[in-house]
Amino acid sequence: MKDFFGYDGKVCVVTGASSGMGKATTQMLVELGAKVYAIDMNPCQVEGIEKYLKCNLASKEDIDKTFKELPEKIDSFFGVAGLSGSKTDYRTTFDCNYTANMYITLYYLKERMQKGASIVYCTSTAGLEWKKFKKEQNKVVHSKTWEEVVAATSKLASSAPATFAYMYSKRCLSQFICEQAVEFAKLGIRMNNVLPAATDTGMKQEFQDMVGSEEGLIEQAGLANRLATSEEMAGPMVFLNSNMASFVSGVDFLVDYTDTCLKILKLKKNLEAVSATNPIICAIAKKMMQKQSEELKKLNP
Ligand SMILES: NC(=O)c1ccc[n+]([C@@H]2O[C@H](COP(=O)([O-])OP(=O)(O)OC[C@H]3O[C@@H](n4cnc5c(N)ncnc54)[C@H](O)[C@@H]3O)[C@@H](O)[C@H]2O)c1
Repeated sequence: MKDFFGYDGKVCVVTGASSGMGKATTQMLVELGAKVYAIDMNPCQVEGIEKYLKCNLASKEDIDKTFKELPEKIDSFFGVAGLSGSKTDYRTTFDCNYTANMYITLYYLKERMQKGASIVYCTSTAGLEWKKFKKEQNKVVHSKTWEEVVAATSKLASSAPATFAYMYSKRCLSQFICEQAVEFAKLGIRMNNVLPAATDTGMKQEFQDMVGSEEGLIEQAGLANRLATSEEMAGPMVFLNSNMASFVSGVDFLVDYTDTCLKILKLKKNLEAVSATNPIICAIAKKMMQKQSEELKKLNP
């Protein structure tokens, strides 16, 4: 049978490889014959991988150490790891979701990839409105070093709730992918963006707590009447980085079972069309979340 995907023997690097979508991606790639390097801060239990590398992606030093142990030539990169912000602070959430991906792309992938290579990042439908808020994102997306990104977000890191870092980091990453896809296309390297809707992964409970119920989460998955599975997100990522998508680059690939269509057709309210950096909104949200967490602590000491 013809190998349409073309992963056999290819060096693939996956972040977030120990759980949810990243783990499902790793499993699929191993089955397709790829040499998979699995990056995560937690151990990766997938059989057949080439190597597991423990790394905290919110740390530049850890990323530098990890890339010393990765091959000099990388064929496909899958940036899947992410944090919701409900258990981590703003800085950690933003750096894991955005800064790490920016840094890896500009400082490592540009050097280690050749013509024909491919990159896919996992953002979110929560960042769908990135085109409307480019002015808010420009300062971050046009920062070219880790330190510049930290400086550009330091005010927010002390004033906004960590969950706001989720939407903002995903919007920044979507804009970064669009801008860098153009730069990488000049090198013959493709770059795409998968935007998942609500999915049943290790992060499910955190999102469920934010919206209040599983039904609330299911409502964010279009007309599917259920959450997506990790495999249903891994499939599009594996496809986009494969030979099957050799003319696809710079795409926002929505995996949301019509959720966005419903919003475009005004059959559903678009709750994502709000600022992620407005100081008044951030301050109010931070106060509300602090109050909520104090009340929860009282109920559950
Ligand atoms: N689950 C959803 O509903 C949903 C929806 C939209 C987008 N996403 C995105 O999907 C991606 C995958 O998440 P998931 O839903 O599979 O969740 P998950 O929690 O099951 O997997 C995330 C993985 O990332 C790893 N990780 C987190 N922080 C890290 C760090 N600092 N350094 C190294 N590894 C780290 C975790 O250990 C875990 O293995 C994330 O980028 C997330 O934002 C998820």
